[in-house]
Amino acid sequence: MRHLITTDDLTKEEIETLFADAESFLKTPPPKLLQNRLIITLFFENSTRTRSSFEIAAKRLGADVVHLDVAKSSTKKGETLYDTAANLNAMGPDAIIVRHAQSGTPYQISRHVDCAIFNAGDGAHAHPSQALLDLFTIRKHFGGDIAGKRIAIVGDIKNSRVANSNMRLLPRFGMEIVLVAPPHFLPTATPFATTTRLEEVLDEVDVVMSLRTQTERHAHPIYASLKDYAGDYCITKERIGERNILLLHPGPVHRNIDIDDAMLADPRCKVLEQVRNGVAVRMAALKKLILANG
Ligand code: NCD
Repeated sequence: MRHLITTDDLTKEEIETLFADAESFLKTPPPKLLQNRLIITLFFENSTRTRSSFEIAAKRLGADVVHLDVAKSSTKKGETLYDTAANLNAMGPDAIIVRHAQSGTPYQISRHVDCAIFNAGDGAHAHPSQALLDLFTIRKHFGGDIAGKRIAIVGDIKNSRVANSNMRLLPRFGMEIVLVAPPHFLPTATPFATTTRLEEVLDEVDVVMSLRTQTERHAHPIYASLKDYAGDYCITKERIGERNILLLHPGPVHRNIDIDDAMLADPRCKVLEQVRNGVAVRMAALKKLILANG
């Protein structure tokens, strides 16, 4: 049974095929490859983009989509997560798409079901479909080969599943990563170059990925104020200047904290293109795993 728990669940070759599919889905209306297939979305954490993106992706491929409203489900009546998953599994879905605040939950669920589990974000651990759409967007921008391209990941890296998944995935395609953050937002051990000074790296990178401060994952406030953070790390038009930089952000953006209004409106900022590509990449991932599972 194939799952997408981390980006390591796909080989490089599979990712290439997946991207070719995503590219074709962007160009021509997709065939109903998942007709009569059932996909359940199970989100224990808030989501704007990821849930709707997965649901739209599934529907465009002709699948039936059921969303379990967790707030009204039996987990609220004391049922364990695994019993909830086992019960959903008994209804015969082809895939369950799971988001949970606890790292490892999608993996644990995958051991209790016989359908594909898609990790839509677990704690600070992983968000594989986001990293795939980020990689897809970067490759599309540079026309394919990204070996040797440098990316600065800026922000709350330590608590970001998006950063974690990108740190696993992008080097497999030859990208070099530099992490830019205040000391308490940097991972304690990392094989990547790190700096606390954004200005230091701007002349050396091709891509900047800005991240949201994950306040919900901080046990107590660890930055005096988001304004202070913005003073050092906000991606402003003034800081970027005329540099030829591709600017990404997984959303939700803290406007004028992560990225300023002027850069958000700048053509170098591809946040909405990421969202558009995300549907196509998720379609390709759903197709790949569900059809592989038979
Ligand atoms: C991210 C997430 O939820 O992990 N958003 C997303 O899925 N596009 C990032 C975040 O919440 O900051």
